[in-house]
Amino acid sequence: MKTKIHAAAGCLGFLTIAIFWTSTVTVELFGSEAAIASLKEGILWGMIILIPSMAIAGGSGISLAGDSSYPTILRKKTRMPFIALNGLTILLPSAIFLAIKASAGEFDVTFYTVQGIELLAGATNLTLMGLNIRDGLSMRKS
Ligand code: HEM
Repeated sequence: MKTKIHAAAGCLGFLTIAIFWTSTVTVELFGSEAAIASLKEGILWGMIILIPSMAIAGGSGISLAGDSSYPTILRKKTRMPFIALNGLTILLPSAIFLAIKASAGEFDVTFYTVQGIELLAGATNLTLMGLNIRDGLSMRKS
């Protein structure tokens, strides 16, 4: 049961970031300024799903791991602080900043610089979380 909750929370977090990332790129390439502003607001609401799912994935993962020294588990454990740090110090503040700028109609150099940083940090977390999914599935009891 705990494994199922862990996997579901981890995959939900991954999917949420993937949706934020692809919808951002799509809307910024093809959408109006109003569409960008409403997506940026939507992403802030999406944090209500993302933050708890990441906390549950991390917490349940640490609990499932116990004091195991199995290399695959240690790799997952090492990635988690980077995922959390990246999320809380880059993704969340950028999402708030970009939503404020977009709602004020300020699509200036600062907006696009922060947007670029956010996309890079998002891609980094998608990679690290993808590796955690791969390593998790490789330990699956068949
Ligand atoms: C974003 C972070 C994470 C994601 C997306 C993720 C994803 C997954 C997935 C998909 C599974 C397979 C579950 C199954 O068998 O159906 C799994 C298993 C597992 N994960 Fe994670 N995980 C994450 C973080 C962590 C962390 C930080 C740890 C702590 C070391 C951890 C420890 C484990 C363990 C021990 C299992 C195997 C459970 C078992 O089969 O007995 N995970 N994870």
